[in-house]
Amino acid sequence: MKVNGRLYRSIWLEEDGKVGIIDQRFLPHRFVLEWINSASHMQIAIKEMHLRGAIVIGVSGAYGVYLAAKESEGNIERFNELVEKVRSARPTAVNLSWAVERVLSRIKMEDAGRWDDVVELCREEANKIWEEELLRSKRIGEVGVKIIEEVFKRKQDTVQILTHCNAGWLACVDYGTATAPIYEAYARGIPVHVWVDETRPRNQGARLTAWELLNQGISHTIIADNTGGLLMQRGMVDLVIVGADRVSRRGDVANKIGTYLKALAARDNGVPFYVALPSSTFDLSLCNGLDEIPIEERDPDEVRFIQGLTEEGEIKRVLLTPRDSSALNYAFDVTPFNLITGLITEKGIIPAREDAIVGLLKEDV
Ligand code: MRU
Repeated sequence: MKVNGRLYRSIWLEEDGKVGIIDQRFLPHRFVLEWINSASHMQIAIKEMHLRGAIVIGVSGAYGVYLAAKESEGNIERFNELVEKVRSARPTAVNLSWAVERVLSRIKMEDAGRWDDVVELCREEANKIWEEELLRSKRIGEVGVKIIEEVFKRKQDTVQILTHCNAGWLACVDYGTATAPIYEAYARGIPVHVWVDETRPRNQGARLTAWELLNQGISHTIIADNTGGLLMQRGMVDLVIVGADRVSRRGDVANKIGTYLKALAARDNGVPFYVALPSSTFDLSLCNGLDEIPIEERDPDEVRFIQGLTEEGEIKRVLLTPRDSSALNYAFDVTPFNLITGLITEKGIIPAREDAIVGLLKEDV
């Protein structure tokens, strides 16, 4: 996507082996780039959410293995230690362990002799994952746009879409997952308007999705997280499209906290509720997502404090709650398969059902 007229991806590998990222902590007020040169630095960037979003976390994990290989200089113990640090940086998005495992299995498969060759294999495989994710997101847009087109054909008026958190290009290499069909619809001249859930506590919707849509010139309105239900009751939402951090074998979807409540409201109001995801976000090893998907618990201070821009143009964090109140900060929830209208993937749109998911992924196994 373009920022100030220049093409950017959310993450990329520089010629000199450093990994470039857009530091998402300062958006929308400041556009800051960061260069990552070690696996420990990558672990911090993932954990402290310099970058975030399932797909980009996965790609970072892959580059994290490459950085670990470079800096461990053949010391296997050190290499394993660094890889584990990266792999465990955040627990819910399965893309992280999936991508780390994929790079590791490439090394095992090729049985490289010299350590330099191992480093090169890691670089190659991480770049391959980067490229594949880019294409998957693009394809999700081309597949998912059909749903928006159908609503437009029927309605002959602006298609109203609600989304939660940021499943946009910042959360992927480019295009996004939930936003990819929206960008594609806009490119095809279909009038769309997006209701952007602010997404407390870190406000990825208000800060990041709104910034992305604004950059692309797509009509949108930020709403407080609790507004979606009322809009649905009033017929102001045609579709909900969200992203995913892990989808179990039977189709339960872990996504940013609050997604489940939107799915309940959508069901009660007959609004189709779609989840957009690449095949790298399925976890076939888990069946019952409600019991089995690990839910990240983050620092309660993310709930107690809020960050914003002062009148003087400074980015500041202020306390929102009574100093002595405690807070609880679950970062994700799980929406059960029965509340989901369909899964939009790069290979097609399928129901959230075990046979459909296993069938879709068969060629990958
Ligand atoms: O905690 P975050 O910001 O990493 O959570 C991100 C989300 O929940 C996104 O909706 C998700 O990663 C899906 S998009 C690729």
